[in-house]
Amino acid sequence: MLGNLCFCGLRYISVILLLSSEDSYDAVDISLRAGNDHKPLMGDASGGRIVPSRAVSRLSRLFEHPLYKVELPPLTDDDTLFNVNNDIRFYPRATGNQGWHNEDGNEDEEEFSPTEEVTAESYPNWLRFHIGINRYELYSRHSPVLDALLKDLVTQRITSVAMKSGGTQLKLIMTFQNYGQALFKPMKQTREQETPPDFFYFSDFERHNAEIAAFHLDRILDFRRVPPVAGRLVNMTREIRDLTRDKKLWRTFFISPANNVCFYGECSYYCSTEHALCGKPDQIEGSLAAFLPDLNLAKRKTWRNPWRRSYHKRKKAEWEVDPDYCDEVKQTPPYDRGTRLLDIMDMTIFDFLMGNMDRHHYETFEKFGNDTFIIHLDNGRGFGKHSHDELSILVPLSQCCRKSTYLRLQLLAKEEYQLSSMMEESLLRDRLSPILIQPHLQAMDRRLRLVLQVVAGCIEKEGYVNVVEEDLVGDTATHRGPGHR
Ligand SMILES: *[C@@H]1O[C@H](CO)[C@@H](O)[C@H](O)[C@H]1NC(C)=O
Ligand SMILES: *[C@@H]1O[C@H](CO)[C@@H](O)[C@H](O)[C@H]1NC(C)=O
Repeated sequence: MLGNLCFCGLRYISVILLLSSEDSYDAVDISLRAGNDHKPLMGDASGGRIVPSRAVSRLSRLFEHPLYKVELPPLTDDDTLFNVNNDIRFYPRATGNQGWHNEDGNEDEEEFSPTEEVTAESYPNWLRFHIGINRYELYSRHSPVLDALLKDLVTQRITSVAMKSGGTQLKLIMTFQNYGQALFKPMKQTREQETPPDFFYFSDFERHNAEIAAFHLDRILDFRRVPPVAGRLVNMTREIRDLTRDKKLWRTFFISPANNVCFYGECSYYCSTEHALCGKPDQIEGSLAAFLPDLNLAKRKTWRNPWRRSYHKRKKAEWEVDPDYCDEVKQTPPYDRGTRLLDIMDMTIFDFLMGNMDRHHYETFEKFGNDTFIIHLDNGRGFGKHSHDELSILVPLSQCCRKSTYLRLQLLAKEEYQLSSMMEESLLRDRLSPILIQPHLQAMDRRLRLVLQVVAGCIEKEGYVNVVEEDLVGDTATHRGPGHR
């Protein structure tokens, strides 16, 4: 196991070295440079907006609530995605530009294990984010890395751009000066546009603002299962066209009749002149989602969502015709034990609040086996309609009648911690604020009430103890702890 973990550390370094030679960068120069071109961020101490220091942020009060203090069990090497000691050992060598390291002899460097705090500061934030991933969460509640990484996504100089292959809609992979990478989804719809009623969910646009809002929603719900996403205004000429080495992408740039810079790239939907993405005149909004560790370093497993839609214009899925469908799922590994079924319920609620019908698969980190959280990737099809609540998204919840974190949901329905206000405040921190128009925020409050009604109905029918599984407040032995049935 340890050998495997060491391998991870080594591979990381080789990735960095590869990148550095390809882009003719000095590997020593990996220090972070905060951009100085940022416009004031609300609620950000460095911003120009004056926020009275005594003003109590409702969001920070939420995050201080005892329900947001449930602790993780102690983490062993098996619970962290990477072994920090090995990264600590190898990373300075790479930054010190000492060339290739000896892949043997791990044992004799065992004494060198400074504390996490000391070394963590010398790492780029994207690496600190990767190192922090564990069996239970992508990032911890009060991690300073998260805010630093969000800032990097907006301020780091973009050094290369490539198209992501295989997707139905155009996405760009952006690499930053500090070798971090992020997935860029360009703006396709205005904040006010709703998905046309005759659109199938699978042909709906992927919205950049949905990706941003989903990250904030997931954090407010305390799941922390969405990789960090930030909005950024990109200069299409300087930061895409002039940087890409992809001729296919480069060739699709043109100037529109209105004198705006436009491009469309290559993909299987919406990559044509008619669906071009145009700037104003050369700037375009987009979401940047921090990359998870490379698949070579941390394999992921893709799982079919048991409540997947049929993705066929006429056929129905099994769960749509069988009201007892969940009984079947409950007996099938990995839903027969641990927290996986409860995690599916979390995802169901997350998707219902956003109106996301497009959750056909989900992923986990292979290292953690079946006992780990679900990564909430690809949320661009959320927030398409605020005037409609898609109740079919809640079917897993009403069929299974199981819910953990019920108290947190109730908390977010209270006036003091109202979900819409929490979201509004959280989203103000994004550069592209406002991210959601008011009707979308209000829709979340309305949908949360519907979720609570479904759970209340379940409790009435089956009894509280058979439905609700609570996180144990202030106790380290949470429901996620090992040894849970
Ligand atoms: C975008 O980049 C181009 C090329 O460097 C530059 O001429 C243009 O002024 C930039 N646009 C803005 C709005 O900064
Ligand atoms: C994990 O889930 C799979 C189903 O995908 C199952 O075959 C396997 O037995 C489970 N492993 C454990 C340890 O429960």
